[in-house]
Amino acid sequence: MNAIDYLRISLIDRCNFQCQYCMPEGADLTYALQQDWLTRAELRTLLQHVFMPVGFTRFRLTGGEPLLRPDVVEIVDDIAHLPQTQDLAMTTNAFLLAQKAEALWQAGLRRINISLDSLDPDTFQSIIGGRGKSRWHDVWAGIQAAHRVGFAPLKLNVVVIPGVNDGEVLDLAALTLEREWHVRFIEFMPIGNSDLFQHRGWIPSEELRQRICDRWGLAEGTVRGNGPADVFQIPGAQGTLGFISQMSECFCDRCNRMRLSADGWLRPCLLNETGQINLREQLRNGVPLAEIRAQVAELVDAKPEINFKMRESGTTGAYSRTMSQIGG
Ligand code: GTP
Ligand code: 5AD
Ligand code: SF4
Repeated sequence: MNAIDYLRISLIDRCNFQCQYCMPEGADLTYALQQDWLTRAELRTLLQHVFMPVGFTRFRLTGGEPLLRPDVVEIVDDIAHLPQTQDLAMTTNAFLLAQKAEALWQAGLRRINISLDSLDPDTFQSIIGGRGKSRWHDVWAGIQAAHRVGFAPLKLNVVVIPGVNDGEVLDLAALTLEREWHVRFIEFMPIGNSDLFQHRGWIPSEELRQRICDRWGLAEGTVRGNGPADVFQIPGAQGTLGFISQMSECFCDRCNRMRLSADGWLRPCLLNETGQINLREQLRNGVPLAEIRAQVAELVDAKPEINFKMRESGTTGAYSRTMSQIGG
């Protein structure tokens, strides 16, 4: 059985983008109240006295958009310096990264995954929503800043949507030729915007690999990570290509992660909330840490039964909560 040792910590459920695939326009999103966010001190207490003793050693900060959290640098500093932390990473849209990359590095963060769904500023803007000037250049500046500061491995996440950005797959893959960047193609899931999913569908990773293989050839590759990506490499390229194939090759059976929401819910699975625990309420009500720890250990034991199993559940269902609300 897999060790469950990877905790994805959502620092905030808000986002400064409104990506088509995640938050459909007009969606009625309710957000946690700021007073309900786990504070920096509560996060530190939970990690030290609950999660680490239960066996969690690898952590990823997510959102919404984690860089919107005012004390993100201090939280990084705390977690990076806990002796049991074996890996600390962040997933961000990079809009604010140019101004924060250096401080995050100084605080102890060493690797970052960034969403980059298009190399074309207009397509990018149409995906992330909102009016006005394209934000692509800010995001690109954030990626460059992360590269300059030294984050490695530096991964770029692309959700592939047929007819929207799948025509850019070769251009995006080409980013790995000269740079030690790691581009990952993610199969579009029926989460968040089910209308778009029903309308556009999804492309199996195997088809993308074939396109890339026809152009350059493709070999197996390796890159450090805790996630479900299958890693390949264009022969001679500096970086790698990852494929996250939850639709075509459900990876729930080897799931190693749990999620902590910004307002303190511990969720055993991205798509199945059975057994979730409100840790914030318990902490604030003074429930002894040993008792909270026992509940978390119990949920870890129960997790294999709770795992979603995308394949068995079919690929046409739709889950109305968005990734930004669940914590990416
Ligand atoms: P590494 O440690 O670098 O491998 O990170 P990761 O791939 O675990 O993290 P990242 O936040 O970059 O995740 C990339 C994408 O994988 C997410 O945005 C989701 O689309 C998908 N993903 C991550 N975790 C899960 C999960 O538990 N279930 C499913 N179905 N998809 C997930
Ligand atoms: N399908 C696949 N990945 C998704 N994400 C959000 N919504 C979906 C979806 N429907 C992932 C993307 C995005 C991150 C915030 O969450 O990787 O970059
Ligand atoms: Fe794990 Fe649930 Fe994601 Fe499957 S859907 S990989 S069980 S968190």
